[in-house]
Amino acid sequence: MTTLDINGKPLQVDVDPSTPLLWALRDSLGMTGTKFGCGMAACGACTVHVNGQATRSCVTPVSAAQGARVTTIEGVNGDKVGRAVLDAWIKHDVAQCGYCQNGQVMSAVGLLRSKKHPSDADIDQAMAGNICRCGTYQRIRAAIKDAARALA
Ligand code: FES
Ligand code: FES
Repeated sequence: MTTLDINGKPLQVDVDPSTPLLWALRDSLGMTGTKFGCGMAACGACTVHVNGQATRSCVTPVSAAQGARVTTIEGVNGDKVGRAVLDAWIKHDVAQCGYCQNGQVMSAVGLLRSKKHPSDADIDQAMAGNICRCGTYQRIRAAIKDAARALA
């Protein structure tokens, strides 16, 4: 058994330590908000925070998350940055099919925690690893700017 700190709660998973965190979350804990896209750190759908850093859970073994603070989309509304981003996402009606959006939100929250007033270049850089096949990039950018304004 491995105990993980997920959204502030100690939760136990019975998996091999090399199992990707993504599958421990989804299959062992039933937390299906974190999505599988590519499985090779190329799409961002599986993004969570590990000690506050946006992290691709599909290539992060459970052993690397042990002892760390893991935040998933299910817990991202636990602080004002997460709430501001979620509010902005709703206001701008960002999602289309929605599949990539939880990962987009996690990366956006990570960005706004490290940069209060991100420029377009900052947004492009922070969000470059999150692919949206529906092409919602303009709304994502607008929502991030709106969340930054709301937090100022
Ligand atoms: S599923 Fe992890 S980056 Fe695509
Ligand atoms: S909203 Fe459909 S893939 Fe991004």
